[in-house]
Amino acid sequence: MPFNGKDRETAQTTLAQTGPAFPTTRMRRNRRTEWSRRLTQENVLTPADFIWPVFVREGDNLTEPVDAMPGVVRYSCDTLVDAVSEAKDLGIPVIAIFPFIEPELKDAEGSISVQENNLVCRAIRAVKAAHPNIGVQCDVALDPFTNHGHDGLLDVHGEIVNDATIEVLCQQALIQAEAGCDVISPSDMMDGRIGAIRHALDAHDFGQVQIMAYSAKYASGFYGPFRAAVGSASTLGTATKATYQMNPANTDEALREVALDIAEGADMVMVKPGMPYLDVIRRVKDRFGMPTYGYQVSGEYSMIQAAALNGWIDGEKCMMESLIAFKRSGADGVLSYFSVAAAKLLRQG
Ligand code: PBG
Repeated sequence: MPFNGKDRETAQTTLAQTGPAFPTTRMRRNRRTEWSRRLTQENVLTPADFIWPVFVREGDNLTEPVDAMPGVVRYSCDTLVDAVSEAKDLGIPVIAIFPFIEPELKDAEGSISVQENNLVCRAIRAVKAAHPNIGVQCDVALDPFTNHGHDGLLDVHGEIVNDATIEVLCQQALIQAEAGCDVISPSDMMDGRIGAIRHALDAHDFGQVQIMAYSAKYASGFYGPFRAAVGSASTLGTATKATYQMNPANTDEALREVALDIAEGADMVMVKPGMPYLDVIRRVKDRFGMPTYGYQVSGEYSMIQAAALNGWIDGEKCMMESLIAFKRSGADGVLSYFSVAAAKLLRQG
């Protein structure tokens, strides 16, 4: 190929940045052997990077498959305890509990969400009693509990009432903390909820309870399978969460959300969904240097599983590749339904 002026310019830039160019510099040299590829690896995944989201429902001895999430089940409290035992032995530091609430227990206020002996609190107590040394994280939001599927309370016009919702969220956080929850994780996207929850926790002697804020949570289509899993797909119907969750087109706004949550007392921040928003994780990590987490949400999980089950992709390979992408983007960890499967693979080496 003729060497034109443009190529010469590029070659000179390369020379200035990296030293002599081809043939002296050969990028493939470092990739030739397995040991050298390991030596030059920039990011690593370990079981300590995982937060494992689990679904829980009423009943005994249940492991009920979630249709839209092949490989994921809803546990009853007893089987959850066994599953957590395995996760703990694999070195997973924390699980995140999500409830499937029976439809007849739901109402417009999500009243069951603030009852001390509700499913979430019983699940927390069961897990903590059996495994005091694994972290337990819980969502704070109303959508699994309301008969309209929204994360907040509605006024007569069907609009979300921000400040009244926060009062309920504070109660929800308190009963979860009382039950032994280690990390309160508000996923509702109401304004001002982190500060209010921090204040409520501190005022009730729960100063040690951490807050992981769903800071940049987008109004995403990728939550579909999750909503089926917790039973909020049918209650929400075609309604939109776009008045509180973020516009997928925005990233400056994500930085403002994160800045507010940090100022209000968040210990850790989260970006959600994950894979389509790795640019947001990178910006957040670079700007704030906070413990930053990405949520590989249900739709991301199901896409990989569906393609793998069809034989279109290598499931294990794509699982690990998708997870290391979070580390590469700057995340300190990832919430993933793959946590146990990935931790097992890592253990095998
Ligand atoms: C509830 C909540 C959602 C998810 C986590 N917490 C769904 C939503 O906001 O509609 C999604 C998780 C997933 O898709 O895996 N506020």
